[in-house]
Amino acid sequence: METIHTIAWMKQVARDARRREHILGFVPTMGALHEGHLSLIRAARRQCSPVVVSIFVNPTQFGPGEDLAKYPRTFEADRAACENLGVDYLFVPPVDEIYPRGFRTFVNVDGLGDRLEGRSRPGHFRGVATVVLKLFEIVEPEFAFFGRKDAQQVRILEQMVADLNLNTQLVTCPIIREPDGLALSSRNAYLQGDQRRAATVLYRSLDAVRAEITAGERDPARLLAALRHAVDREPSVVIDYAEIVDADTLEPVMALRKTCYVMLAARVGTDRAKATRLIDNALIELVGDSLRVTL
Ligand code: PAJ
Repeated sequence: METIHTIAWMKQVARDARRREHILGFVPTMGALHEGHLSLIRAARRQCSPVVVSIFVNPTQFGPGEDLAKYPRTFEADRAACENLGVDYLFVPPVDEIYPRGFRTFVNVDGLGDRLEGRSRPGHFRGVATVVLKLFEIVEPEFAFFGRKDAQQVRILEQMVADLNLNTQLVTCPIIREPDGLALSSRNAYLQGDQRRAATVLYRSLDAVRAEITAGERDPARLLAALRHAVDREPSVVIDYAEIVDADTLEPVMALRKTCYVMLAARVGTDRAKATRLIDNALIELVGDSLRVTL
């Protein structure tokens, strides 16, 4: 595995691979790699060669007062994990390589980026879309792998790829969870003491929605009431938003007639300043006459 720090060299390596008609797979990350990230790398490995992984804690997607400074950085372990999985190139650009002085061009995916996560984190998706477009231009991958854990992020990036006629195909991979249901996240490292157990209520509340649907409930308002009821039993967890949205428009739905997401964000921890914000979601799909719920 080769570790690459400059854009020029990354472009050169990618260009050479393409010239040899290799199928380049790309997994963008912010590091602190866990099994969720590793599942994307494995998926890329099955489908592509060479595989490029990027590690870049992207400052433009963090708002003021967010966790940019304390975001976990575990480069040596990340490097070893990538090497073990057979990653070919690890792209680790410094911040001033991606955002040199005078940088002033940003990508805005109108509408989709202002809702849900975007409402709680203004400018977040502008930073995500900007860095992902830059990374796509540098690596020019055939396929890029993302987790459904960040369902809104995937939807926005799909729109960007379509609108800008990019040559990269997005591959969405399932959510990897701990045995108790908690979705893996680099931010889980912030959970202290009882917070780790309390955090499983995100999964448990989505599972309550699944149980309601299995029992025949179809009304989004009642399904969300069941979700809120489950979360309310954990006093240290406060919902930021809980919505059932159309998978395409990300707008709230009145009925489950198309593919939808149950989107959930919550703060774990009673002290708001120190609380950890986590997100999770469930996918609801129509299969014939019945609904399939995937957590
Ligand atoms: P990061 O949070 O590091 O996540 C990198 C990728 O791993 C994303 O596609 C995310 O959805 C996926 N992922 C995280 N947890 C997962 C889980 N439990 N199961 C499956 N996949 C999971 O998302 C970002 O970084 C950044 O916004 C980025 C796209 C790199 C742009 O900076």
